[in-house]
Amino acid sequence: MRKGMDHVGVLVFSAAAIYATLAILIGVIPGTVLSKSPAGRGVVPLDAAQARGRAVYVGEGCSYCHTQFVRPLAQDRVWGRASVAGDYTYSTPQLLGTERTGPDLSNIGVRQPSDVWHSIHLYQPRSLVTGSIMPPYPWLFVVKDKADPGDVVVNVPAAYAPPGKVIVATADEQDLVAYLVSLKQAALPSPAP
Ligand code: HEC
Repeated sequence: MRKGMDHVGVLVFSAAAIYATLAILIGVIPGTVLSKSPAGRGVVPLDAAQARGRAVYVGEGCSYCHTQFVRPLAQDRVWGRASVAGDYTYSTPQLLGTERTGPDLSNIGVRQPSDVWHSIHLYQPRSLVTGSIMPPYPWLFVVKDKADPGDVVVNVPAAYAPPGKVIVATADEQDLVAYLVSLKQAALPSPAP
């Protein structure tokens, strides 16, 4: 007589059932709870440019290296206060991230409010942060002989800029920077949990 483990059907079905249960328990339910939780005081929806910038952030894979989740741990205090559910109401699906190769970005708009800094950093992180291992994103810019009216010129330090050319930010780049600068943790009404 064949026992349960000899039946390929039983194996496949059990594995699929376990996978589906775990996916619902640790993925779908927490995601739904977060997106339904009331917005924290001072947490506002993204405007149109910031929302487009968030899509660029997703498309460029920034969350492979950057989290947007501050844990209630001493070593995380440098990134801001501990994150709470109400921070994510307007940010679904959440971009919590799992790898922190670069800094947490939950509060980057407060830590680094300069859009000029962000643009230069995206063009070439090493021009601002010596030895940075963040990849450059040159395709978010256009290199031209001279700027046209209305162009947003990015003044990258000469050592990192193509000689005799100007570097102009694309619309995607400007949206991405608008999104980054918008990432500010709202103050909590009472001391952090
Ligand atoms: C391969 C990993 C990696 C990827 C992918 C990556 N970064 Fe970074 N990022 C880093 C590292 C490492 C640092 C710290 C060094 C530095 O500032 O350049 C950093 C720093 C930053 C900072 C400054 C943070 C601070 O606290 O000063 C910002 C803003 C940032 N990254 C945004 C982005 C954006 C936007 C993207 C996607 C377009 C991105 N990063 C993609 C690794 C990465």
